[in-house]
Amino acid sequence: MTDDLGALLASAPTLPRTPSVRSLLAGTGGYLPERVLTNDELARTLDTSDAWIVERTGIRQRHIAGPHETACSMGAAAARAALGAAGAAPADIDAVIVATSTPDQAFPAVAARIQHALGIQRGFAFDLSAACSGFIYALAVADAFIRLRQARHALVIGTEVYSRILDWQDRATCVLFGDGAGAVLLSAGPGTGASTDRGLLSTHLHADGALGDILYVDGAVGRRDRPGTLMMNGREVFRHAVARMAETVDEALADNGLTHADVDWLVPHQANLRIIDAMGRRLHLPPERVVVTIDRHANTSAASIPLALAEALAGQRIRPGQLVVMEALGGGLTWGSALLRI
Ligand code: COA
Repeated sequence: MTDDLGALLASAPTLPRTPSVRSLLAGTGGYLPERVLTNDELARTLDTSDAWIVERTGIRQRHIAGPHETACSMGAAAARAALGAAGAAPADIDAVIVATSTPDQAFPAVAARIQHALGIQRGFAFDLSAACSGFIYALAVADAFIRLRQARHALVIGTEVYSRILDWQDRATCVLFGDGAGAVLLSAGPGTGASTDRGLLSTHLHADGALGDILYVDGAVGRRDRPGTLMMNGREVFRHAVARMAETVDEALADNGLTHADVDWLVPHQANLRIIDAMGRRLHLPPERVVVTIDRHANTSAASIPLALAEALAGQRIRPGQLVVMEALGGGLTWGSALLRI
């Protein structure tokens, strides 16, 4: 590295942040399969009970995709709902980014299939894989494209059919997950760089591949012998989830010169109600300021945050100008947070 370049890079962290473009939340949408599977139904074939599942996880039921429903079909439905909520047309969209660990095919990407299903004929489309953190990762990537002026309107979609990668005999994992899709439309808008701006204030991503074996799928589309089953060390994941998500939320607030007192809403990844409650208490938020869907949706992985956001915005619980914290942790391990002013 030349001395000049070294000096330039050394000064980079101290450069003022003055983005003139922000990614604004233009619309949200969700899709859940019709079929609802309750804890009591699971207890008929599994050594478990509604009482155990509710007490240890907060989950009461989950939605399960029908035979013809896939990541593509559910993601397209959620994306249509987000476009409708935003009053946007398919022709406006120039980027489709899908977070999923359960794609219909290795390729084309689910995003490309959804682009076509929606009648979008320009721009770009791709998937990314970061398990349950996928939506935060996809938001970060879409935000970067918007700030770089490579996209003006980006659809960010989380869509998952975990019911197809679960061992339905394993009570320690199969009771935890459900199927569904959520989508947001991000649109370029004006910003000043201040934390009072509307839109995404910042995103913060992390990964630690050394922890890959505490939550993984033991196969892939490319392996004929093993399409893949989810494996998990629940206690270890739980321990890391609370610690890592707390760190990344504090990091997000500090990066924007904000404190816990500035947060209006927590829209967390929905993995376990005990984790969600712990995060809410850390932020000193009353329970009514924490969006909870896990009781009805279970853990829908990359779809859980956009589904929760869509539900809270449709019910007009979250209002314009309010500050929302989102956080997630998933296989990888991956984790991250995002701060969004509505
Ligand atoms: N019904 C009844 N008993 C169950 C059960 C079920 N569905 N699942 C596990 N158990 C049993 C275990 O076998 C264990 O029995 P043992 O003591 O005889 O061995 C007992 O319950 C306690 O297990 P433990 O793992 O300590 O329970 P827990 O309180 O940690 O709860 C999880 C288990 C999986 C709910 C919890 O660890 C968790 O939510 N972890 C995080 C998982 C997660 O979020 N994953 C996705 C991240 S994106």
